[in-house]
Amino acid sequence: MKIDFANLQHQYQLYKEEIDANIQAVLNKSNFIMGEEIQVLEKELQAFTGVKHAITCSNGTDALLLAMMAIDIQPGDEVITTPFTFIATGETIALMKARPVFVDIDEVTFNIDPSKIEAAITNKTKAIMPVSLYGQPADMDEINAIAKEYNLKVIIDGAQCFGASYKNTCAANHCDIYTTSFFPAKPLGCYGDGGAVLTNDDEYAKKIKMMRVHGQNKRYYHEYIGIGGRLDTIQAAVLLAKLPHYTKEVEERNRIAQVYNERLRGTVITPQIKADRTSVWAQYAIRVNKRDELKSKLEKKGIPTSIHYPKLLTKQECFGYLGYKNIKFNVADNLVNELLCLPMNAFLNNEQIEKITNEIACAQTF
Ligand SMILES: Cc1ncc(COP(=O)(O)O)c(C=O)c1O
Repeated sequence: MKIDFANLQHQYQLYKEEIDANIQAVLNKSNFIMGEEIQVLEKELQAFTGVKHAITCSNGTDALLLAMMAIDIQPGDEVITTPFTFIATGETIALMKARPVFVDIDEVTFNIDPSKIEAAITNKTKAIMPVSLYGQPADMDEINAIAKEYNLKVIIDGAQCFGASYKNTCAANHCDIYTTSFFPAKPLGCYGDGGAVLTNDDEYAKKIKMMRVHGQNKRYYHEYIGIGGRLDTIQAAVLLAKLPHYTKEVEERNRIAQVYNERLRGTVITPQIKADRTSVWAQYAIRVNKRDELKSKLEKKGIPTSIHYPKLLTKQECFGYLGYKNIKFNVADNLVNELLCLPMNAFLNNEQIEKITNEIACAQTF
């Protein structure tokens, strides 16, 4: 029995007709840059999320840069975020010549702990950037309340949570600007790099659209220093073919997470989703003591697993200049060594889940 971690090949075979037709249509029209598929996709993303503006872009990293350009992050500003995330979160803050300020995470959601944010605020703080790790939004009400009190902006790095909801609406509605990634292995992925920035604010939207194309307000007239950050039309065509299937896939991911939870209960610590939000299960992560040992045992049995992430941003060499090396983060320092991501995709069947969970039970016993 072969078990795939993400199973993009199977997904392609299922939607092949629509995907191939959409790509062929772009080839026939040769409208490779900003073709009409871009505008159609942006409308679809708006309808899907209920957010007023969706601006597609080159990837989830550039989406973060565009969001920070929109709120006018300046050199020396501070942006509060989590150390337990993909490098892009902190990297883009640093690329803006701002300073990432890391705050410990919550033991349940693995996201930034709002009770620790206030202590990190200084007169240079400009924004809070929570990440929705593994597909579950952070505690947005608490974060937004702090932002309001201190007059800060909130950008959600939603690269892993497109479509997740918070208090019954898409998480993208619970911040000033929301960013996401359509990297192929993300819950909604294209066939290369892709991303989007979403906002309910007209002014931010206007600026992000300009920033995405070198800060131009019309062709060859540049109001701002921006970036070359457009999404390719072919990637929009792929996403347009996949989006109609996305709700069903997320439902399946949730069903699979439930089956994992039931079968693993008592063997390992299983992930929890808070009652007021949903997850799109970008990852299903279990918490175990001898993580690396379990990983290699499962590998030998043909079960692929992955570690997101093996090192906190505070400990990354590139952030040495921030001086976090010897600062302890009680929760994140432990979780970084204990979380292991199991295969997760909408096409895992019960037999495969049974094999995975049986092997985990077996490996944990002996
Ligand atoms: C939390 C987080 N932020 C940002 C990104 C960057 O997205 P991209 O790879 O599309 O640039 C990722 C992608 O892995 C991510 O997981």
